[in-house]
Amino acid sequence: MDSFELNKVAGAALGALLFAVGSGFVAELIYHPKPAGAAGYALPEPEAKAAGAAPEAKAEPLPIRLASASAEKGQSATKKCASCHSFEKGGPNKVGPHLWGVVERQKAHESGFEYSAALKEKGGTWTYDDLDHFLTNPKAYAAGTKMAFAGIASPTERADVIAYLRTLSDSPAPLPAAEKKAEAKPADAKPVP
Ligand code: HEC
Repeated sequence: MDSFELNKVAGAALGALLFAVGSGFVAELIYHPKPAGAAGYALPEPEAKAAGAAPEAKAEPLPIRLASASAEKGQSATKKCASCHSFEKGGPNKVGPHLWGVVERQKAHESGFEYSAALKEKGGTWTYDDLDHFLTNPKAYAAGTKMAFAGIASPTERADVIAYLRTLSDSPAPLPAAEKKAEAKPADAKPVP
């Protein structure tokens, strides 16, 4: 093979290459290929997950918690109150007043106990709701209270304790209604003439 022959082969190869590149270029001019979009589908994100993450963080309303509260668990939880409070009927005042019948009892009214001005100023009776707030954080409920107790952080435990306090009575106060129901009227309410 002489060099002339070689040149022809090289020329042919070059020509073929040029044709391939050139025709690609021309095709692109004609067809304007669009870039492919992102592959795959965008799936909807599971957003409700976070809401149920920490069950203790968001407290159920007290009536709902009380409906499923355990007075027995509450009783063992009140061991931390026992250094300051007695719970039995006719029990003595200790560092704090005795707590027999405290639900619906007049606030800061046990005779023979020196209450703080903060608690005396509160007025009214110990409703379930007030007890829940007081026991969450006594100092936040009554700034200046003598009750040196940090509070019960767990909403469930508070409900248990309140359920136990409720039993400390000869006639325990009724539990708050868990839902607002239309009051059922007794069928024979109307006196028959
Ligand atoms: C370190 C002692 C101490 C501990 C612990 C303590 N208390 Fe008290 N508590 C007191 C004192 C003192 C008062 C009176 C507060 C005042 O006069 O401000 C009081 C008041 C109360 C009252 C109001 C009573 C009334 O007659 O108005 C309730 C209810 C109560 N405590 C419940 C509890 C419960 C439930 C616990 C446990 C979860 C507890 N306390 C733990 C010292 C304590």
